[in-house]
Amino acid sequence: MEMDVRMKPDFFKGRSLLSLLDLTDAEMLALIDFADELKQEKRQGRFGDRLLRRNVALLFEKASTRTRCATLTALTDEGGMGHYLASSDIHLGKKETIADTARVFGRMFDGIMFRGSAQATVEALAFWSGIPVWNGLTAESHPTQALADLMTIRETFGRLKGLRVAYVGDGGNNVACSLMRACAKAGMHFANATPFEMAPSEAVVSQARAMAEANGGSVTIEADPRAAVRGANVVYTDVWVSMGQEAETARRLRLLRPYQVDGALMEATGLLASNETIFLHCLPAFHNADTEASRELGALEVTDDVFESGFSRVFDQAENRLHTIKAVMAASIGRCFA
Ligand code: CP
Ligand code: NVA
Repeated sequence: MEMDVRMKPDFFKGRSLLSLLDLTDAEMLALIDFADELKQEKRQGRFGDRLLRRNVALLFEKASTRTRCATLTALTDEGGMGHYLASSDIHLGKKETIADTARVFGRMFDGIMFRGSAQATVEALAFWSGIPVWNGLTAESHPTQALADLMTIRETFGRLKGLRVAYVGDGGNNVACSLMRACAKAGMHFANATPFEMAPSEAVVSQARAMAEANGGSVTIEADPRAAVRGANVVYTDVWVSMGQEAETARRLRLLRPYQVDGALMEATGLLASNETIFLHCLPAFHNADTEASRELGALEVTDDVFESGFSRVFDQAENRLHTIKAVMAASIGRCFA
């Protein structure tokens, strides 16, 4: 553990998580500490009632497996109840404004997990509902994913500070930007290997760089994936076409094909033989031709041998979505600190 004294996560009571900028560096680490505790409890077969009689709306504009299931199972584990509402099933955006729907939710629910396109929507929901809102992915950020990513890295290496993370692929997407912020807050060295056309905005990069440098870490943007992965303890990638970007598929594939994570790229870390490097992916991943979408796309961001390798931690990472989302909800609306 990186902090001398564990912070009790009661600091998060009543708060939203719209992006990682909502958390101080210490608060982010404290939520991951709490997720570690919850994981241990569940492993030992112990369940709490931290979310007893708490009703959470899952308002989803986009498809989800992990975020949806993690939220629902976390609520059940702690005695609460999740209510899945696809935005197409309710009046939102058609007969009712965000502000009106949010105010109704605020009268009925204790919290909202939102997944959708615009960051402005999750912000409006928080503003109008008056209850905690957690960002379960927007086009701009995926903060609960980044918490699970750091939890997985720390489980593997026993620490975060000073480790090297190389993200390879669409460097400006939600997952890359939240991971960059998370690594910066934890004092890690983050290299983003991406075509310059897909790099995050200068404002987002310089803000992350300032946070990293304050913590003894660094942020670099690099077009060459081989240079970026040298010395990397973590090689991370995500899909090349995110939800909502389907119209740009041809251009994206043209730019991103040289960024595939394969065995040779993992070797280029120089750390494979010494077991000091792992592969991560937020999932869903294109790693073989066994899905309709990957056959249609004809392109994989990671080869099957890397995905299925012993150094791939992608399913630990997926499981950790549960523990981190549980920590966020319990710390925000739970009874544990009353
Ligand atoms: N990683 C992630 O957010 O997965 P889902 O899209 O399945 O929720
Ligand atoms: N970048 C991907 C992440 C999916 C979890 C997307 O937004 O589709």
